[in-house]
Amino acid sequence: MSEDAAKCDIGFVGLGVMGKNLVLNLADNGYKIAAFDLDFEKVDAAIAQDVQENSQGSPRVIGCSSYTELLSKLKAPHLIVLSVPAGEVVDQVCHNLIGAGIQPDDIVIDTGNSLWTDTVEREKRYNENFIFFSSAVSGGEVGARFGPALMPSGSAYAWTRVKPIWQSIAAKVDAETGKPLERSKPGEIIPHGEACAEYIGPAGAGHYVKMVHNGIEYADMQIICEAYHVLREGLGMDCDQVADVFAKWNAGDLNSYLMEISVEVLRHKDPESGSALVDLILDKAGQKGTGLWTAVSSLEVGCPAPTISQAVYARSISSFKNLRIETAKHLTRPPADALSAEQKESLVEELHDALYCAKICAYAQGFQLMKLASVEHNWKLNFASIAKIWRAGCIIRASFLQSITKAFERDSELENLLLDSYFSSQLSKYQSNWRQAVAKATLMGIPVGAISASLSYYDSMCCEILPANLLQGQRDFFGAHTFERVDKPAGKKFHVEWSTTERVIKPLN
Ligand code: 6PG
Repeated sequence: MSEDAAKCDIGFVGLGVMGKNLVLNLADNGYKIAAFDLDFEKVDAAIAQDVQENSQGSPRVIGCSSYTELLSKLKAPHLIVLSVPAGEVVDQVCHNLIGAGIQPDDIVIDTGNSLWTDTVEREKRYNENFIFFSSAVSGGEVGARFGPALMPSGSAYAWTRVKPIWQSIAAKVDAETGKPLERSKPGEIIPHGEACAEYIGPAGAGHYVKMVHNGIEYADMQIICEAYHVLREGLGMDCDQVADVFAKWNAGDLNSYLMEISVEVLRHKDPESGSALVDLILDKAGQKGTGLWTAVSSLEVGCPAPTISQAVYARSISSFKNLRIETAKHLTRPPADALSAEQKESLVEELHDALYCAKICAYAQGFQLMKLASVEHNWKLNFASIAKIWRAGCIIRASFLQSITKAFERDSELENLLLDSYFSSQLSKYQSNWRQAVAKATLMGIPVGAISASLSYYDSMCCEILPANLLQGQRDFFGAHTFERVDKPAGKKFHVEWSTTERVIKPLN
């Protein structure tokens, strides 16, 4: 065997939970890995787990104690995967690799949740030293181990080298049905099916798409939590009863990974007290920032994404626990019998339909946001391909994504999912129950901000005429901001001399 053939295929930096599992996934798929982490114990743990899971063969993971050693163990041109925290650490590792002698034809892949604008900058910054490529990973630790969804972007040439590796480790779906092909045991591989790893576009595009994935994830989680709240407080169900309702929903249109894990979380009992663990978890939501980035980007791009933004606000409100305890003492809520028994009877079914419609709207917002960003940055995103990637492996995976794939296959230029005949007919069919659910929750004083933000979004999209005519009048009154008229050519501006008694309407161009 030549010296180079004995070398490793991939260098890996960062062996936290995600990193270690990606390494083992790569190893299962036949790649030999040289691994490095500043914490040597993590390298040892990865090697030990590899030995345990791969008792028959020779070691598939080799430990390295420096960046120089890492590069020396790799076949040229080198391929190095980073699984390190987003932010400064990515640049520190890149500088260390430059110091260790990385070459211009070598590829470094950032798999973290980096801010997409940082990725654009990095591709330019390291251009002369090596090829900076990015590939966001979704699916948490189990996804990383047995098949994540991958959103690669950057140099198209780099993708030709990364593609076979990425498509081997990614989650797979049955091409016909769009259903995930499950893989759950070490050593197991799925050689067939469509891989949830496709080239997204130029630098930054993949991280943008992953950011929107997370924005939708926030929305999806929040609407499930709002339904839970109504079932618990409004209908007095215990955790097991809510889990039963969710399990039933998970078998139908609302089938999703997030619904499935909600059932598991709800059924889990605290070993110490025997009560439902959820009742002991403090109701203050954390966030690392990707949902916030999506909401900020939607405002910057000018794309309405109220369900996603509301999901971020809901986490913020939850974090003011002490303030909520105080305000709850001072403010009044509707009486416990705000709804009649008859009104409550149909609420479970109405909530189901509300969740389904709210979810369609959250996805409609996320996809429109990606579309507008794609036009702004000339990324030429392929939305059917993005929906396909999200069918398995990632956190928002859901059977619903197959219908979105079909919608974009029917019309790749679709401006908004609400224009698709399938989704618009679904919304027409279920909207009455959606309204009932929002109205009833509101009458009981149970906050359903994300579900109702979706409903307002839907209603706004249904209105040919919105009250922005009055708003334009107000703006012109106090700031001479001008307005257009429906009875005059588009683009022609008018201003009223509001401070004069005559209030003459003046054309301005
Ligand atoms: C994924 C997840 C992953 C992570 C989120 C959590 O796709 O695998 O989205 O990226 O769990 O960053 O984000 P928060 O801490 O903000 O909820």
